[in-house]
Amino acid sequence: MNSKKKLIAGNWKMNGGLAANEALLKAIIAGLGDGAACDVAVAVPAPYLAQVQSLTFGSAVAVASQDVSQHEAGAFTGEMSVAMLKDFGVRYALVGHSERRQYHGESDVVVAEKAQRALAAGLTPIICVGETLQEREAGQTEAVVKRQLAAVIHLNGHCISEVVVAYEPVWAIGTGRTASPEQAQAVHAVLRAQLSAASEHADRIRLLYGGSMNAANAAQLLAQPDIDGGLVGGASLKAPDFLQIIAAAR
Ligand code: PGA
Repeated sequence: MNSKKKLIAGNWKMNGGLAANEALLKAIIAGLGDGAACDVAVAVPAPYLAQVQSLTFGSAVAVASQDVSQHEAGAFTGEMSVAMLKDFGVRYALVGHSERRQYHGESDVVVAEKAQRALAAGLTPIICVGETLQEREAGQTEAVVKRQLAAVIHLNGHCISEVVVAYEPVWAIGTGRTASPEQAQAVHAVLRAQLSAASEHADRIRLLYGGSMNAANAAQLLAQPDIDGGLVGGASLKAPDFLQIIAAAR
């Protein structure tokens, strides 16, 4: 077991609205009281960054973006630069979420460029990896996550220990079908070994599990030796559920 603080990050995806965000964040912050035993973040839709920055100011909740551009600035319609995100107090940026890989054609190379850009600006990338159901059934889980992690493991001039990695089996995302704690731990151990081979600080890297994590299954998942937190979609939209997951992360 290691002693680093766990991280519970909510991923709101394309959900929310001004009124709903305010109600949700006020309930989360009130529920946290004096703080949490773990680090807490919410990855919110870009139009709400200003609102969320102001609602979370001075609280234990950090702001995350759901994506970041690999480019610095310029003619990239629709993209958000690290500098823009930093203007709104963003601490973490999701990078390479499976929905970005799947619907926006993000390759391992693009994901690595995004992670690199985030790190260079002092944002912590939460780099997502994970296999599809087809890949799992074909026995390719290990090969797929290793390939995805290999792409980001040598980021120019940056130590891999500065990133967060999230293992999110695609078949478990939004499906209610969670990886069992043993299945998740098995993949986390593979990722940890790969990180250890690349860095002497691999123990410091937080490896999150994501994919239908909820109030009922979080404690068991978070009890696994190589699971250092969660990336939580659906259950992060309900304050009581999100708070229970946070409470399970000690
Ligand atoms: P889920 O999503 O918790 O709704 O399965 C997790 C994610 O995609 O980050």
